[in-house]
Amino acid sequence: MHRVVNGLAQQSVDIVDTDRTVAPRLVELCRRAAGEGVVLLRNVDGVLPLPAHAPVAVFGRVQCDWFAVGYGSGGDVKAPYEVSLLEALREAGVAVVGELAAAYETWAAANPPDEGYWGNWPRHFDEMPLDAGLVSRASREAGVAVVVIGRAAGEDRESVLEPGSYYLTDAERAMLDAVVARFERVVVVVNTGNVMDLSWADDYGDRLAGLILAWQGGMEGSRGLVDVLTGAVSPSGRLTDTIARRYEDYPSAPNFGHRHFNNYAEDVFVGYRYFETFAPEAVQFPFGFGLGYATFELGAAEFSGGGDGDGDVAVSVEVRNVGERSGREVVQLYVAAPDGALGKPSRALVGYAKTAELAPGESERVSLMVPRAALASYDDGGATGHRSAWVLEPGTYTLYMGADVRTAERVGAVEVPELVVVEQLAEACAVDPEAPFRRMTVRRDGAAARVGWEDVPTRTVDLRRRILDALAVEIPVTGYRGVQFDDVAAGRRSMDEFVAQLSDEELEALTRGHGRMNSPLGAVGNAGVFGGILESLRAKGVPPVTCTDGPSGIRLSAYASLLPCGTALASTWDPALVRELAAEHALEMVRKGSDVLLSPGMNIHRDPLCGRNFEYFSEDPLVTGRMGAAVVAGVQSRGVAACPKHFAANNQETNRSKNDSRVSERALREIYLKGFEIVVKEAWPQTIMTSYNKINGVWAHYNYELVTTILRDQWGYDGMVMTDWWMQHSRDPHFPEVWDSAYRVRAGVDVLMPGSTVDGLRRGVDRSLLRSLAKGDGVRRGELQAVAGRVLRFVEVSRPARSGRGEGVEPDSRSAGIG
Ligand code: BGC
Repeated sequence: MHRVVNGLAQQSVDIVDTDRTVAPRLVELCRRAAGEGVVLLRNVDGVLPLPAHAPVAVFGRVQCDWFAVGYGSGGDVKAPYEVSLLEALREAGVAVVGELAAAYETWAAANPPDEGYWGNWPRHFDEMPLDAGLVSRASREAGVAVVVIGRAAGEDRESVLEPGSYYLTDAERAMLDAVVARFERVVVVVNTGNVMDLSWADDYGDRLAGLILAWQGGMEGSRGLVDVLTGAVSPSGRLTDTIARRYEDYPSAPNFGHRHFNNYAEDVFVGYRYFETFAPEAVQFPFGFGLGYATFELGAAEFSGGGDGDGDVAVSVEVRNVGERSGREVVQLYVAAPDGALGKPSRALVGYAKTAELAPGESERVSLMVPRAALASYDDGGATGHRSAWVLEPGTYTLYMGADVRTAERVGAVEVPELVVVEQLAEACAVDPEAPFRRMTVRRDGAAARVGWEDVPTRTVDLRRRILDALAVEIPVTGYRGVQFDDVAAGRRSMDEFVAQLSDEELEALTRGHGRMNSPLGAVGNAGVFGGILESLRAKGVPPVTCTDGPSGIRLSAYASLLPCGTALASTWDPALVRELAAEHALEMVRKGSDVLLSPGMNIHRDPLCGRNFEYFSEDPLVTGRMGAAVVAGVQSRGVAACPKHFAANNQETNRSKNDSRVSERALREIYLKGFEIVVKEAWPQTIMTSYNKINGVWAHYNYELVTTILRDQWGYDGMVMTDWWMQHSRDPHFPEVWDSAYRVRAGVDVLMPGSTVDGLRRGVDRSLLRSLAKGDGVRRGELQAVAGRVLRFVEVSRPARSGRGEGVEPDSRSAGIG
């Protein structure tokens, strides 16, 4: 297996533990999730599953050098083992053509891939030149060929529109040409974490009979795939992104990847919301699509629109397996909201459910409930007469149900006679008036929709006033009065009494991590430690809290399980399974000394080139939110914490810590924040990580409106917020005596991780807080105390994990009951 161990994990290689044991239940769940995430895109004449015992010719060096995950913090897990595809096939008893397999094994061993370094990892591995004789001998031995194409992407840079990244290399083309010329039945397996161009699949007609997106399934990924290839498991993965025929057709393409800023000009028309509205013909494989070995029929749907104007929408349908093999179906429900003052996409996912495994002839009744509010749109400019509100514009809301966005059929409609204000909010994070742009909307000529453009609404809020009106009140400082942190946890003393004792230095220390990755206060190879980072805090009973990456496993110097990547998990469309996996994984966190998993990755797949898409779930906010909630609920059911990231609009890696995501408030609310909102409201993550980028001119880690107005005041989040690693220097434009960490604290971002600023080679402690505090018009002590209180509450809530390490599983009541 070829993944680069980068950064911190390497530093302590000589003192790592050597325990490679993994809980059998976790292994089982990893394999199941990997298999269920596999998406079968084409299966002409039932070429799959592979015929039992018949020889199979496997092409492509990736069969030996399997990509188990992508690169960077989200993939850098020291897996106890990984299994190549070739090994997994042999293990399952598949009769691979021996001469061919041996040729690949010898060549791959003699030509190991160059593993690169941070931000320069290989995006593909060079292919073995194919000898015509070898192909023809293999074709005489085997009726079916499997060709494997592999790709990787990673943090800190994008995929590129070049052969070997988004496109096939000449050598891969030549391999496909040669194999398709010789074999009548060819199955192509694409082993990638990020969507790549698949248009070539259409060039080969039906001879390319099978096409599979295997994703990067972690340490059990190849076994999960082989379960599907052999038919041990019927594929039930579904696309969580649209696959277009050409990159240029993605609506983000004209604006993606710019160095300094990115206009989100496509607005809410992201992924299928764009394609289904304006360009269905540009789609090769639609959102939600995936084949299985079973065949399902949906009965007549029972629909209830909940009366006139307020009740929930309820749809129930009988799903019957009318095929000859067992399998699972994913039922998806979409809305087409009426255009009014706000342009609406032709389809938006509002619910989905996956059946249990159904045997031939078996059926299951699937019921979906959609709150009326989930059909609403956000009016950011007052076009409906209700600025900064979620509204249901009058008209017909048609609901479509089916197995993917394209084939979903009308099941009913809700009439909204007059406009309903679902929720009145206050403007936050709107576009900077200095950086306006035109955004996409829909114009209709009769039934046909065409793209229209309109000015994006811009900011009207007096932010200085908003902040001053809500400044935290100071708790009178008492000095140490003998109140220990345990007294707070046991309910004997209040948090305020504890906080009142803290010195400015202690308050300051609670607002940042220990200072560097791999802190000596935590498990070796950790990403950072916060909480009890001073001796005096520890003496009062505040323990250090250890953070580790996420999302694909626990990134430490020690061995840790490598999970399926985010896209693979999301492709299962099975939050219950993902929750179970996360809960089992959390036991490993407890065992390995991780208090906080820096996971799930929740950014939207705005563009297929984003280097970190493999860590994230989908182009759709509902899929993202439900998967994120499943991870959080699972992890936190064991007392340890999850940390959804990167809040928000971190949709590209290019110049990621300086880039400005310029995006309308509507697109933020409906697309880029929506998944986080779902996670906050359904699973109460104990902490959330801000992103590196700016949002409409303000860095996320200084963004009062993002973190205080929206997250805390509007969504009711009372947990802790941490930065992504390091931060940018900046003075608060509204308060000249407030800068850097003082600016951050004023925004409501509690903890700077890993605890220092990024400043060339100086990674020293940031002094801005105490300096600003000393100024007449600087940050106030009450603000520091409020932050310290939130950090300490975090420590209190997650305490069971630390005290029970090695045994314990105290559920956190706040995330119990999430399905
Ligand atoms: C990444 C985060 C990660 C952190 C700690 C940052 O570079 O953006 O996702 O959790 O590093 O490794």
